[in-house]
Amino acid sequence: MRLLITVARRIHKRPLYTPTSCLSSAASCSGASKNSGLQFRDNQLVCGSTGELVQSLRGQVEVRTEFISEEEEGALMKELEPGLRKKRYEFDHWDDAIHGYRETERAQWGAVCEGVIDRLRAVAFSEGSPLLGPVHVLDLDKAGYIKPHIDSVKFCGSTIAGLSLLSDSVMRLVREDEPAEWLNLFLPRRSVYILRDQARYKFTHEILKDDESIFSGQRVPRHRRISVICRNLPV
Ligand code: OGA
Ligand code: MN
Repeated sequence: MRLLITVARRIHKRPLYTPTSCLSSAASCSGASKNSGLQFRDNQLVCGSTGELVQSLRGQVEVRTEFISEEEEGALMKELEPGLRKKRYEFDHWDDAIHGYRETERAQWGAVCEGVIDRLRAVAFSEGSPLLGPVHVLDLDKAGYIKPHIDSVKFCGSTIAGLSLLSDSVMRLVREDEPAEWLNLFLPRRSVYILRDQARYKFTHEILKDDESIFSGQRVPRHRRISVICRNLPV
């Protein structure tokens, strides 16, 4: 348990790009949502600096809305909340890529949650792809956020799949060697996002803090948010 959390921490070591404001002049969009208050059409969940960029990352960046039901979200919370509640949110590690978080890992799930995890893995990973056994659970306080980073290539493979519980949020991807190239992803509560290949290796990803949480010109209030993240192993 302890070792795995250390491994998970090492994922977050590279703040590379600090945005001064949220970009909202989206050139192109793709995806689907009708979840909370915000309504975006099918082709509007992924926006980027240019249409060509959005197009070139199609297949490497995916958002699936309403991936789980409210009941499944409730079942996940029921399993996760008692353990999380025992920990304190961590705010003061200035060099951490995550601010205002607590985290855990889970290898064993009850039947409903196991069904969700199996479904998540089935859509994200090809059959036989060796997976990181325990699932990473990250609980961001309302004031918490994730700074730009690239997950450790030593510990994690080509694909990252994350389920968002409790809150909508905005994920930003910025090309590491060309900061003018960016994508914003609208992640509605109960959606899943998948990052693969170039999107995972060449772009930093981050979850915007509440006061910068704007997608396509619309404010996306960030509440407490829990992500349930599955990864594969490097080959
Ligand atoms: C991470 C990360 C994103 C999320 O833990 O490395 O980028 O959805 N998390 O919480
Ligand atoms: Mn990450």
